[in-house]
Order: sequence, then C-alpha cells, then structure tokens
Amino acid sequence: MIRGRALKPCSGCVPPPLPEPVAARPLLLITGASRGIGAAIADLAAQRGYDLVLTYRSDQASAARVAAAAEAHGAGVVIAALDLADPLSIDALFAHLPRPLAGVVNNAAFVGARGPLQDADVEDLSLVITTNVRGTALVCRAAIPRLQPGGVLVTLSSQSAQFGGNGLSVYAATKAALNGLTISLAREIAPLGLRAVAVSPGPVLTEPLRALPPERLAEMAASLPLGRFCSVDDVARTVLWLLSEEAGYISGAVVPVHGAR
Ligand SMILES: NC(=O)c1ccc[n+]([C@@H]2O[C@H](COP(=O)([O-])OP(=O)(O)OC[C@H]3O[C@@H](n4cnc5c(N)ncnc54)[C@H](OP(=O)(O)O)[C@@H]3O)[C@@H](O)[C@H]2O)c1
Repeated sequence: MIRGRALKPCSGCVPPPLPEPVAARPLLLITGASRGIGAAIADLAAQRGYDLVLTYRSDQASAARVAAAAEAHGAGVVIAALDLADPLSIDALFAHLPRPLAGVVNNAAFVGARGPLQDADVEDLSLVITTNVRGTALVCRAAIPRLQPGGVLVTLSSQSAQFGGNGLSVYAATKAALNGLTISLAREIAPLGLRAVAVSPGPVLTEPLRALPPERLAEMAASLPLGRFCSVDDVARTVLWLLSEEAGYISGAVVPVHGAR
C-alpha cells in the first residue's frame, strides 16, 4: 500500500483505485480513526500486526498523523474520506478496498447537539439517526461480502444505550439500535463463519466529552466506581481482543467496558 495515501472526500464521484498491498498482514477497516477511540484502536491494531484502512470525515491532517504513527509500527496504511451519512461515500470506499478484510471496526458516530429532546432541531436529530444507524448498517452490509472467513464486525455502542445519556436521548437511541443490529446480524452471518459484536464503553474523555464544563466532568469522574474515566486504551484493548481468535466464540454480544458503573 502507499503509505498514508489519502482519498479525496467523495459524494457520487469515483475515487481512484486503492493500490495493491505489498504485505499479507490481515487488513482492518476502522471508521472515524482520525482521533479519539478510533485513533487508539488504529495504533494498537498496527502494533498487533494489522494493515489498516482508516477513515475520517473532515480532518484529513489528523488522519494522516494517525496513519504515520501506525506505519511506524510496521503497518501498511490507507486513509480514506468517508461520510457515514452519504450512502455513495460508503459504496465508493468499499468499491476500492485493496483486498478482503479481516475485520471492520464501526467506530465513527455523530453525537449531535446536547439538550432536551423538546429543543432538538429536526435536521440535527435526523443526522444523528442517519449517520449512526443507517450509516453503520450500510457499512456492515457492504463489508459482509468483503470479509475473509473468520472475519469480525465490531461496532462501538455506548452505555447510554442502557442507562441513558444526559441531553443525548437520540444518540442513546441510536446506540440501542446498534445493539439490536449487532445481535440480529450475528445470527445472520454465523453460517458464513463471521462474527458481529458490540463494545459498550462508559464515558471516555475524548472531544465530545471534553466539551462539557469542567465542573460537570469533575462530578462525573467522582461518580465512577473505579475513580477514573474509561480510557481510549481500555476500549482499544477490548476491540483487539474481540477481533482475535481468543474471542472466537463471542458473537451477538454487547461487551460492557464500564468499570462497574
Ligand atoms: N467518548 C465517549 O465517552 C464514548 C463513550 C461510549 C461510546 N463512544 C463511542 O465510541 C466511538 C468513538 O467515540 P469518540 O469519542 O472517539 O468520537 P470522536 O472523538 O467524536 O471522533 C469521531 C470520529 O468519527 C468521525 N466522524 C464523525 N462524523 C462522521 C460521519 N458522518 N461519517 C464518518 N465519520 C464521522 C470523525 O471524523 P473527523 O474528525 O474527520 O470529523 C472522528 O474520526 C463512537 O461510536 C462513540 O459513540 C464514545
């Protein structure tokens, strides 16, 4: 693969074909890998021997930095623009994958505006649902025929699906929908020798959470039984384990990473 190669954002255009791989490491697609949890998963996956296709929505420069760090661990890396809200963008990505996939990490998501539901803007609300539910379902749909035997779909859910999220009703609903998608899909793809799992973290201090006032963050931290937020590495280690053969009998499960919350 060409190192850190980037595709232009695409809606309806046809991107150039991705280059042929030079190595035979398993290939992992991670959506929303330009920062936060996705970037941590990319880093650990590179250390564990994967080549990577990393997607970003708008921040190509950050995605390129994540790619460079993964390359330093010996991974072949391609970065590609992907907008989950745009089905053509999803089709374009899958039409140009360099080779079959060992796994997909459905990490990208849109939180939307925080606030009471009665104040929600209909466009924002629709975008949260379209991005998180339809977008992730379309990625799974496109990925299934491109997965190698033993391939795994890992989807980032959230504890808010079960316990709610303050001012995030619609986001929480989309994560509950992804739990349902994962459980049903796991049964559907089991005869193909494929697995589907979801990972459900508690609060992680990435950009969406850092936007909260410091006093609210302090309150949240104080309420967490292990005395700290879930880290991006806590999540990344769980994802890499679920992708591995060690977790070969785990499918249709929503795995909590919530520190006894
Ligand atoms: N942070 C938490 O507390 C927490 C807790 C539980 C679950 N999760 C879940 O974990 C995952 C990662 O969370 P995070 O906190 O690391 O997120 P984040 O920091 O907000 O990063 C989101 C990533 O998704 C990409 N993205 C945003 N909208 C997109 C779209 N429409 N299409 C494609 N990509 C898009 C962003 O790309 P650009 O940077 O290029 O815009 C970025 O790479 C999400 O599924 C989230 O719901 C997070």
